[in-house]
Amino acid sequence: MDINKCIISASLWAAVYLLFGSAGAYNNDKPCAPQEIYNRSGICVCNATYCDTITKETVNPGRFMAYTSSENGLRFQKVTSLIEVFRKLSDCSTTIELDPTTKYQTIHGFGGAVTDSAGFIWNNIQDEGLKQALIDSYFSDTGLEYNMIRTPIGGSDFSSRAYTLNDYPLDDKELGNFSLTYEDYNYKLPMIKACIAAASSQVFMVGTTWSPPAWMKTSGSLTGVGFLKEEYFEAYANYHKKFLEEYKRNNISFWAITTTNEPLNGVVDLPDFNCLGWTIEGMGSWIVDYLGPTIKNYDSTIKILGIDDQRNTLPIWFTAVILKRPEVAQVLDGIALHFYFNDITPPSMTTTVLKDYPDLFLISTEASITETKGVDLGSWDGLEKYAVSLIQDLNYNYTGWIDWNLCLDTEGGPNWVKNYVDSPIVVDAEAGVFYKQPIFYAMGHFSKFIPRGSRRIKSTEKYNCSNALKHVAFLTPENTIVVVLLNEDNKDRVIRLKFGDNQAKVLVEGKSIITVEFNNEVQDDSCDCD
Ligand SMILES: *[C@@H]1O[C@H](CO)[C@@H](O)[C@H](O)[C@H]1NC(C)=O
Ligand SMILES: *[C@@H]1O[C@H](CO)[C@@H](O)[C@H](O)[C@H]1NC(C)=O
Ligand SMILES: *[C@@H]1O[C@H](CO)[C@@H](O)[C@H](O)[C@H]1NC(C)=O
Ligand SMILES: *[C@@H]1O[C@H](CO)[C@@H](O)[C@H](O)[C@H]1NC(C)=O
Ligand SMILES: *[C@@H]1O[C@H](CO)[C@@H](O)[C@H](O)[C@H]1NC(C)=O
Ligand SMILES: *[C@@H]1O[C@H](CO)[C@@H](O)[C@H](O)[C@H]1NC(C)=O
Repeated sequence: MDINKCIISASLWAAVYLLFGSAGAYNNDKPCAPQEIYNRSGICVCNATYCDTITKETVNPGRFMAYTSSENGLRFQKVTSLIEVFRKLSDCSTTIELDPTTKYQTIHGFGGAVTDSAGFIWNNIQDEGLKQALIDSYFSDTGLEYNMIRTPIGGSDFSSRAYTLNDYPLDDKELGNFSLTYEDYNYKLPMIKACIAAASSQVFMVGTTWSPPAWMKTSGSLTGVGFLKEEYFEAYANYHKKFLEEYKRNNISFWAITTTNEPLNGVVDLPDFNCLGWTIEGMGSWIVDYLGPTIKNYDSTIKILGIDDQRNTLPIWFTAVILKRPEVAQVLDGIALHFYFNDITPPSMTTTVLKDYPDLFLISTEASITETKGVDLGSWDGLEKYAVSLIQDLNYNYTGWIDWNLCLDTEGGPNWVKNYVDSPIVVDAEAGVFYKQPIFYAMGHFSKFIPRGSRRIKSTEKYNCSNALKHVAFLTPENTIVVVLLNEDNKDRVIRLKFGDNQAKVLVEGKSIITVEFNNEVQDDSCDCD
């Protein structure tokens, strides 16, 4: 390789760096059909005949590909340019140094949730093409390439009624009348099957109960403060097994189950939807003596994920339970945490609490924008909240990140207690369209470019003299390096991604998120200097 030629070329190129690479013609993609929203970043509209797509470009040796989404309206805008020899331009140009030899956690994947409501909204779309476009937008290789789905076992607040899979007869300890419901057969199973059919890799399914049948609980109610009666500890473990069996009968296998959604809700009477509280003793005993053996005997490959609640409950629900029953750490495979209150909960808590349990992986199992109490069309704030959490969590060794409802109606429901939230895809059934929110693209900047099996690598910011950018980097199974950067400032920034003696110099626009991918090895014949 002719180094000198490359340096000349690189410096010439640096002098005209505003002409960033070439935006190129990527005819495979259908661009966003934008709709402006006053005082917001805007949305992309999909109808029966048109929906935007995104394909991942192959990164040729010696080049990098950058994909940008911005508050100004870019959505996965592609730019390619040459890898150059590293040059430190001035102390003020930020460099992010990448070290692919320092590897951390292995990624399980990214995804969203098939709730009763998501399934109902999706099944209600009249046009078959539009229905398929929604699924493809998330799971296919012209979409976000999701590879995980969380689904409630029975009902959650995102259902049109409160129910479980064995409400009657009361005290049916043998679960003789356990059965899947109308919602399973008509909403969730069809949507899950469509997602699996569209996905280019195996979809990891995660199942979660919100509440057991009311007759198993001290309160006799699906909602409010209430605990599992000890006489039903075994029945509730079997309830999970029966669910796995019934879904298996419908050809859906599970990768993991969690040990109850947000148990704190059933202790402190916060929300008014389906929940189950656990005492410290009860949780430890149920996991070790009932759920663990039942599930592992049924299928030892199914993972059991503890907590499934906000990060701030980690010290109580983990440390305290472990103190009572140390075997919990052996029965669990991982710890599932939710996104809510992440902005006020230090992520370092995970390092402190889990430092003695290197075999337990961390995964985020639920996220949604709740502050808006429903849909906020076109919100860039939402994208930033997701991206900040994703980058932070991944830098704290989380192995996956699962969003909440895959789609909702224009209100942010249906939800039987009117606990409306935002969703990446909002379906306007009357208009025969759906809208892709900025948070849809936030998820995609990670899910599409960080395949299962990727390892996070060390990335360190250097020489910055303005606000630090948020960043996270990975080495993929294809031996490419993927870096995701978030610029929360209004100012454009030039960032150098340095690896060894090479760099990828990228323009990071103000208020944007960018994913950069390049070959780990710059090959000898890569000097495209003319
Ligand atoms: C569907 O969207 C495309 C792109 O925005 C538009 O050209 C077309 O007119 C729309 N079709 C209908 C029936 O609205
Ligand atoms: C724009 O939206 C923000 C919320 O994101 C709000 O605080 C602000 O008041 C709005 N500005 C105008 C001019 O409507
Ligand atoms: C069994 O459950 C169904 C609902 O799935 C209910 O309609 C029926 O009454 C239950 N049977 C008994 C004996 O309670
Ligand atoms: C499950 O898959 C098998 C083999 O692909 C098929 O024959 C069967 O009909 C499927 N069952 C259901 C309930 O989808
Ligand atoms: C991530 O895991 C590694 C071990 O693989 C550990 O050294 C490091 O401290 C963890 N990072 C954080 C932020 O917890
Ligand atoms: C520059 O980056 C470092 C991380 O390498 C960070 O600690 C520091 O706060 C940043 N400086 C400014 C001014 O943001």
